Amino acid sequence: MNILVIGGGGREHTLCWKISQSAHCDKLFAAPGNAGTQTIATNLPIGVTDFDGIKEAVLKNNIELVVVGPEEPLVKGIHDYFLAHEELRPIGVIGPQKAAAELEGSKAFAKEFMIRHQIPTAQYAEFTKATIAQGKAYLERTAPPYVLKADGLAAGKGVVILEDLEAAKSELRRMLLEEKFGAASKKVVIEEFLSGIELSCFVLTDGNTYSILPMAKDYKRIGEGDIGLNTGGMGAVSPVPFVSKEFYNKIEDQIINPTVAGLKKDGLPYKGFIFIGLIKVGEEPKVIEYNVRLGDPETEVVLPRLETDLVTLFSAVHKEELESVTLQIKPETATTVMAVSGGYPEAYQKGMPISGLEGQEMIFHAGTTIKEGTIVTDGGRVLAATSLGQTREEALQKSYEKLKAITFKGMAYRKDIGFDL
Ligand code: AMP
Ligand code: GLY
Repeated sequence: MNILVIGGGGREHTLCWKISQSAHCDKLFAAPGNAGTQTIATNLPIGVTDFDGIKEAVLKNNIELVVVGPEEPLVKGIHDYFLAHEELRPIGVIGPQKAAAELEGSKAFAKEFMIRHQIPTAQYAEFTKATIAQGKAYLERTAPPYVLKADGLAAGKGVVILEDLEAAKSELRRMLLEEKFGAASKKVVIEEFLSGIELSCFVLTDGNTYSILPMAKDYKRIGEGDIGLNTGGMGAVSPVPFVSKEFYNKIEDQIINPTVAGLKKDGLPYKGFIFIGLIKVGEEPKVIEYNVRLGDPETEVVLPRLETDLVTLFSAVHKEELESVTLQIKPETATTVMAVSGGYPEAYQKGMPISGLEGQEMIFHAGTTIKEGTIVTDGGRVLAATSLGQTREEALQKSYEKLKAITFKGMAYRKDIGFDL
């Protein structure tokens, strides 16, 4: 069948890489894709929220399966758009419908969902402009650090953690009254601070049953030792060594199972990936957030560990037959190290020619494009160098060797991925 992947980052290049290995994939397309997807798929110059443009391309190219990478089209209802157009209705869409995508689209919605289904998470309260006085009083009653979250999508920047009460009150004011994050911070969730180590859990569901993908840990800060500004992600490792069998079972019993059952019970149609951001508090897993897609750069270590044919899995999800497919996971460790543009996550330049990519395996493109026949940088995060190894050390060594062969002006990467494991 012909397949379209929506998005243009490292996650989508990895999805294309895995899909292209399937005997069930005829023609593969990416919209808009990048210089990496271009080597294995046909790039279509269509934006991820241009639903009419996507519709036209899907019909023209006889596409039967659409895999949605980023959250924005899902939260804006791309799956519902397909269901609302008769000629698109038979096409499989991997990604939840709009009502279910609110798990990522609204923090308050996600918290209410967790409370309703008794899924362990931080205590919280939500406030709007009309209840800002109560919000300040709530901060006064709770202990620092104060966790303030813009309710809506804020490109990964909507969470602010502060030690100082006065600073937290000012931040609440900026979010609610000055709409610091635009419409996303018209509502603010204030949450109990949870202390522990974080991990990312990925589940694929057809709305009835689920498969648990390999767990991963990502490294979000720009600086070694996990300090400095937040980024989209500087590297990732899978599996996560501190997830014992016992802890895994707790995650499944207390979180995954009630999440999938809760979606069904609430009538929230879900065919796609659920990304559960977890924190290990003592020996207990708690949910930090839900995302309705795969993570980036976690995908770059999760999919290379998947033995099972991804198109078979997606078809099973579409037909609600996921129960009939058994997931096979490679025992090896996967690591990825992200090469970024100089200056990132602050201002950086684009258009730097990249050399040293020839003959290298599993270099996933995050922000690249082709200019006059040359592959050049086109984003803050540029390339993810993924490797598999018998041990984490071996995989990391291979990832770093791959990066040593690559150059572009301003290239930077963290040398300590996996340091805390
Ligand atoms: P989010 O956008 O919800 O993933 O939050 C971004 C980051 O903020 C998370 O990855 C955590 O590191 C941190 N964070 C969010 N909520 C909490 C919390 N309740 N306690 C401690 N850290 C948190
Ligand atoms: N790596 C975190 C995310 O994709 O949101």
